[in-house]
Amino acid sequence: MGPRPIPPRAFGRHRLGSGGDIMMQTTRIRLRPLEREDLPRYVAWFSDPEVRQYLARYLPLSMVGEEKWFEEMLTRPEDERPLAVDLHAGEGAWRHIGGAGHHNIDWRNHSAEVGIAIGEKSLWNQGLGTEVMETLLRHGFETLNLHRIFLRVFAANRRAQRTYEKAGFVLEGRMRQAEFREGAYQDVLLYSVLRDEWRSRAAAKAR
Ligand SMILES: CC(C)(COP(=O)(O)OP(=O)(O)OC[C@H]1O[C@@H](n2cnc3c(N)ncnc32)[C@H](O)[C@@H]1OP(=O)(O)O)[C@@H](O)C(=O)NCCC(=O)NCCS
Repeated sequence: MGPRPIPPRAFGRHRLGSGGDIMMQTTRIRLRPLEREDLPRYVAWFSDPEVRQYLARYLPLSMVGEEKWFEEMLTRPEDERPLAVDLHAGEGAWRHIGGAGHHNIDWRNHSAEVGIAIGEKSLWNQGLGTEVMETLLRHGFETLNLHRIFLRVFAANRRAQRTYEKAGFVLEGRMRQAEFREGAYQDVLLYSVLRDEWRSRAAAKAR
């Protein structure tokens, strides 16, 4: 028998409408499958160099490119599809503010990479990124049965590093001059969380 499950705190799973989409939710945010209607917002967010600055996607998006990407994305297994991040806007209303998800899932080693972008810049530094990451971790460990969740982040992206550290990620290493951006090779940091670390932390927080 495995360790005692950790009770969820302000965390729920909801089955939506007739589509049967399962989502993860806290009091402030929810993660849900992407819809075609979401695409124009990604085009708008990624047209801003400040939002794109530290993302793998270094060129602006086009609507036609997004539509092609969306069709390809639907052919991936459901667990590996990116999710939309919504912010609770009161009275049962939600506002789409960004994207997040697990990718590069290695089912034999139970390892996956996570990524996040809050497209609405006015909402940065309000704890939402940390909340999204915590939700992704819970989903990764409790639903996808992952053992290790990792991410890569530009060394210059201090806001993101602080976010990941607050969510429990541990610095694992530095890939020196791994990415070429803005005329120079940039270091990229590797962070990870192991399931046992996450469990201990979640249990301590629940006490
Ligand atoms: C990175 C990102 C997800 C963080 O989300 P967020 O909602 O702003 O994060 P949070 O508010 O939960 O935490 C941000 C923390 O960084 C801190 N911070 C902000 N700027 C900082 C800086 N220059 N140096 C150090 N810390 C900084 C904030 O003060 C806050 O910490 P605190 O709660 O201790 O005060 C979001 O800013 C984003 O999507 N950025 C654009 C895309 C991106 O960079 N994605 C990550 C790619 S790896």
